[in-house]
Amino acid sequence: MSESLIIDKNAGKKEKYESLIPQLVSLTHKEKDTIANMANIGAALKEVFHFFWVGFYIVKKHELVLAPFQGPIACTRIKYGKGVCGYAWEQKKTIIVPDVEIFPGHIACSTLSRSEIVVPLFKNEKIFAVLDVDSEQINNFDEMDSFFLEKIVKIVSL
Ligand code: SME
Repeated sequence: MSESLIIDKNAGKKEKYESLIPQLVSLTHKEKDTIANMANIGAALKEVFHFFWVGFYIVKKHELVLAPFQGPIACTRIKYGKGVCGYAWEQKKTIIVPDVEIFPGHIACSTLSRSEIVVPLFKNEKIFAVLDVDSEQINNFDEMDSFFLEKIVKIVSL
């Protein structure tokens, strides 16, 4: 497997996701360690899209605990239902927050983060982790991001 990603820098968001996904599959398919695969997937998303923060939180008892991430240091534990991450866990679905300042209960790990998407990871219909992606721009995430990020997190659960 090649250890560098081949993505056209000038491509649009859709084309970047479409070209990234098969490369993520080949990067992770022989590796069964979830943490290792989360680490590479987070790094790939950061490298391709230059998001402010990309990372995973893993469900441990009644909390989400910080797992592989790329970006500034972040809060280590988030309770069920709290913040955008805990809300996505509770709602069992992807949550897009176009403006973190108007999301009640948003947990600000960094004041630079302005919009956010959180995508749950399922195994046997149970959430075992979430992917959190933050942007410094307002309204940076849309249905296209949820569509492709939901496909990407499935790679971790394979
Ligand atoms: N903003 C998240 C907390 C995690 S950090 O953004 C990395 C939330 O409200 O759950």
